[in-house]
Amino acid sequence: MTMRLVAAELVESRQILPGQWLQSFHAPELATGSRAGQFVHVRTGDYSGLVLRRPFSINTADPATGIVTLHFRTVGRGTEWLTRVREGEQIDMLGPLGRPFEVDPRSHNLLLVAGGLGMAGVRMLADEAVRDGRQVTILFGALSASHVYPSSLLPDEVEYVVATDDGSLGHHGYVTELVPGYEAWADQAFACGPHPMLKRLAALAAGRRGRLGVAKLGRKRGGQTDPLGSTAARRKTFLQVSMEQTMGCAVGACLGCTVIGVNGMLRVCREGPVFAAEEISWEAIS
Ligand code: FES
Repeated sequence: MTMRLVAAELVESRQILPGQWLQSFHAPELATGSRAGQFVHVRTGDYSGLVLRRPFSINTADPATGIVTLHFRTVGRGTEWLTRVREGEQIDMLGPLGRPFEVDPRSHNLLLVAGGLGMAGVRMLADEAVRDGRQVTILFGALSASHVYPSSLLPDEVEYVVATDDGSLGHHGYVTELVPGYEAWADQAFACGPHPMLKRLAALAAGRRGRLGVAKLGRKRGGQTDPLGSTAARRKTFLQVSMEQTMGCAVGACLGCTVIGVNGMLRVCREGPVFAAEEISWEAIS
């Protein structure tokens, strides 16, 4: 679907974790046309009268109710402003923007890996996958128990496994340490979180085939491979990552959101925010 400018009415706003908010908006045009991995550019005000747009992953989208949710952390005046919007008020949302996650139709078992607010980047994929009859495991990493995304906000069908840096809940350590236990089970993996986490996952994914001794999921057809970055190539890849990046225009014009890819610069807002892990030049990512 093409992007559009939508007046989204706030229906519910609540703080779900320290400094983290979940807001529901009535925006049927977005709820119907959006796919997991895409984002909206939201016009936020602040107390100086400055008006800017800020990107947010579409956390969930329900065509039946017309409700779209955003999950964000208050990090500055724009997000502070958003927490003070009242129920019934409308805000401008531009979207859906960016390219979505691409699930191979042959994949039954999906591994979702999220670090902190990265949950917002993969959350909608859990809904889509459950709806399509796939098995979903979410591995989630946070600083401590008080920062763990509530399981009550996930579909019942999802297996939810938590790691905390301080060991106050679940696995004591990084969420990436849980991944090897699932690499034989998973047909594909989808991740969102801090860049070091994604980099570690990319390294794990690169060695996975060798460890498992399995053939590549995407085989050559007629001697041709799908071009890197194409939808077909992404659909066949094991690991897709959603890159969080600051943005300016969010529509591909300002080059304010680039990351270094193996074939040159990539715009997170346009070629992403979802990429196949092989598209990214991980040595350049810190
Ligand atoms: S934010 Fe302007 S090109 Fe991506």
